[in-house]
Amino acid sequence: MSRNIAAGNWKMNKSIQEGVSFMDSFLSNDFPEDVNVILGVPSVSIFALSQQIKKSGKSINIAAQNCHQNTSGAFTGELSPSMIKGAGADYVILGHSERRAYFGESDDLILEKSKAALAEGLKVIFCCGEPLEVRKEMTHIEYVTNQINQSILKLNESDMQNIIIAYEPIWAIGTGETASSQQAQEMHAEIRNVIATEYGENIAAKTSILYGGSVKPANAKELFSQPDVDGGLVGGASLDAGSFAEIVFSF
Ligand code: 13P
Repeated sequence: MSRNIAAGNWKMNKSIQEGVSFMDSFLSNDFPEDVNVILGVPSVSIFALSQQIKKSGKSINIAAQNCHQNTSGAFTGELSPSMIKGAGADYVILGHSERRAYFGESDDLILEKSKAALAEGLKVIFCCGEPLEVRKEMTHIEYVTNQINQSILKLNESDMQNIIIAYEPIWAIGTGETASSQQAQEMHAEIRNVIATEYGENIAAKTSILYGGSVKPANAKELFSQPDVDGGLVGGASLDAGSFAEIVFSF
């Protein structure tokens, strides 16, 4: 199976209506079969957009951008993994740096959320990545491998096969500054090594490792051509149907 994934992350952008009109245009493309296309949309839009995709007969997947670690209960304002799955998402983005920074999500909590999501049959797009200070100190590899060690590396072998890793250096998110393809490749190779050490070469070879941080049509091809860069998690450029389609065609 191909490891290629083009994933969008709309963050807190687009109303349901705006999402539907994006999809009207986006679904007119015939994307290559060996690219798994995923869109992380606001939770209120999951149901409408997944129904729209189903009607089109296209195989595009929807991701939620967060979930709660419990199955139900008195957690005002939260959504359980089963609610997300029931609305039509097959994936959930967890551990995004914005959730770590603005909502205080720790490695432990991200592990708990991952377990809860996997138990409901959702696949997890697990995000990691270092801030600028860490990159300047040249300790980025230890920083990111530690984030992985403290969370998803505690999963069992079968759960690990439903994890997609997104390396998103914080200094490259929404800044227009992209990691060079060498910087991305270096980190992705290290991440794959960590997985191989824990779960063996076979699982490591099957794991998709995405790069995120100012991916756009102009740099996607170069980034995706690196041997350990299996695709992208795209913020800003996924908001435009034409730009995101170009990225999907960049493998
Ligand atoms: P940008 O592509 O806007 O830099 O965002 C990246 C990101 O955070 C995707 O999750």
